[in-house]
Amino acid sequence: MGVSRGGFSSRFGFIMAAAGSAVGLGNIWGFPTQTASNGGAAFVLVYLVLAFCLAYPAFMAELLIGRYGQANAVSSMQKIARNTWQKRFGFVVGFGGIICAALILSFYSIIAGWMMSYAIEPLARLAGFAGAADWLINHSLIRNILFTAFFMGLTIFIIRRGVEEGIEKWSKRLMPMLIGLLILLIIYVFTLDGAREGFNAYLNPDISRVFEPDLLISALGQAFFSLSLGTSVMIIYGSYIAKKENLVTLGAQVTLIDVSIAFLAGLLIIPAMYVAQAQGVAIFAEDGSLISGSNLVFTVLPALFSGMGDVGLFVAFGFFVLMSIAALTSSISMLEGPVSYVVERHDTPREKATTFIGLGILVLSILIVINLEWMLDFVATLSTQYGQPIIAMLCCVFAGWVWHRSDILSEIKQGNEHVEHSLFWKIWPWYTKFVCPTAIGLVFWHSL
Ligand code: PFF
Repeated sequence: MGVSRGGFSSRFGFIMAAAGSAVGLGNIWGFPTQTASNGGAAFVLVYLVLAFCLAYPAFMAELLIGRYGQANAVSSMQKIARNTWQKRFGFVVGFGGIICAALILSFYSIIAGWMMSYAIEPLARLAGFAGAADWLINHSLIRNILFTAFFMGLTIFIIRRGVEEGIEKWSKRLMPMLIGLLILLIIYVFTLDGAREGFNAYLNPDISRVFEPDLLISALGQAFFSLSLGTSVMIIYGSYIAKKENLVTLGAQVTLIDVSIAFLAGLLIIPAMYVAQAQGVAIFAEDGSLISGSNLVFTVLPALFSGMGDVGLFVAFGFFVLMSIAALTSSISMLEGPVSYVVERHDTPREKATTFIGLGILVLSILIVINLEWMLDFVATLSTQYGQPIIAMLCCVFAGWVWHRSDILSEIKQGNEHVEHSLFWKIWPWYTKFVCPTAIGLVFWHSL
């Protein structure tokens, strides 16, 4: 692409990087968990509709702002603004997204650290280090700090190398591995007793629940978290895409990959729970709902793996490596937002900015680890339930009301000459202007 600030060298590179950001713990853990506690396929159905009708247009707004600006989130927003108030508005939205990404990374890296320690545990057991294996799966302060730091170290390592050599190269390596592992695990689980029952539970919708407000809110929140909206990530990734690329199809492809992987993850997790039940593991909570949250990943699934004997060690390894990869390709995108801002606005070398910001976020993560009982939930709620929807909504307002329609058109036309006559252009501008902000605002207001 040849821009001095770096950029994705190929279409495939961008798709893997953006899908890498989108596909994370939210898909493989969050989506199946939410599906389990929200009426199975009814949730899947609502999620699909909301992902394409609300999250995709908002996702396109962020990508377009970034590609137009060819700069970090704040500078890209401010390039569109024409007066001081609009510039301030742009700053609040761009910088708010960067802070939101940093906050998400601070708790995401702790959970990712747990995934890594659970991935190493079967290896330690295979090598005969039973004591070390037990330590790896027992929640201790020191283990939590070490693995959070280890995971953050990996994230810093990749981001220090830049867009092409870091983000793109590693996403191109890790994402195919993730998809391969996911498919292998699904095939294996399907050969086990109980899987069919789980499959039915996953795919039979309880249609009566489709319009439940709580289900709608959970599905929209999940779709926004999954597409990394409201965090400036897609603005910055958009800024690394070449002008010759067709953004409308690229955005749709990334959304499709994200949604498909969430769907596939459901095909793995829900049947796996019913296999666990067939082996005598309790999978329903006292109120009759399927066990979800951390109990699912750190209690039910490990009980299933240990019931499989020696094969279970390999399956556990595969599963937690899958989780760790998903987390890593997402965490690098969260760190890129703040790093690109400091590099470009404060003229700081990338390596220095990455190390400095990464370590700063690690300090916050350690604070959370020390106060795990209240702080993890607090930071997660603040950033994902408040920060992300508010910033994503403001982004749509910015694209819909501040950015001139003719300027948007000339931006999308690059790489998509005939877009003016497409369905996308007939719908998207007013959709982003009216429907997206109103719908996001309504759902957010209701959730309060
Ligand atoms: N999309 C990621 C997931 O589904 O796990 C989470 C995420 C990544 C959120 C990047 C925010 C972000 F900026």
